[in-house]
Amino acid sequence: MRLLFVCLGNICRSPAGENVMRQLVEKAGLESEIACNSAGTAGWHVGKSPDARMTACLARRSIANPGSAAKLSLEMMASHDLILAMDQQNYEDILARDPEGLYHDRVRKFTDFCTEHDHQDVPDPYYGGSDGFEEVADLMLDGCTEILRQIQAGELKKR
Ligand code: 4NP
Repeated sequence: MRLLFVCLGNICRSPAGENVMRQLVEKAGLESEIACNSAGTAGWHVGKSPDARMTACLARRSIANPGSAAKLSLEMMASHDLILAMDQQNYEDILARDPEGLYHDRVRKFTDFCTEHDHQDVPDPYYGGSDGFEEVADLMLDGCTEILRQIQAGELKKR
């Protein structure tokens, strides 16, 4: 099962999702079953490490945050089973990357999986203060826990 977390810049929200999920998968001993990746719909930060504010926030929760930003491609959509959009604009931008709709049924809003928060979007923390990064980390732990549960329960399947 291949998971692709997507946001705008691929330096704040989606690397956090990728790395929170990876730690949950490793704790469950499922790293040979579930792969985690991330990408951004914009290419501004390609090759850069995740934002240091996001990395510091996750470090306080003992979660490593490695990565190198990449721009979302149609090939990446084809090679992942579940594509997780961080907000509504992001969702629409992902669908637009696939004009023939070949992979649209793989794309879901990340917040659909949150069980403890009723957000419709994962707020973009880039221009805000540290509270925004804490909120992203909280949302990622919530939704990623549920994604793992659904995979283990057979409710989410490979494409
Ligand atoms: P992300 O946050 O989409 O969560 O990675 C952003 C990072 C950079 C920018 C916007 C959002 N930016 O405008 O450069």
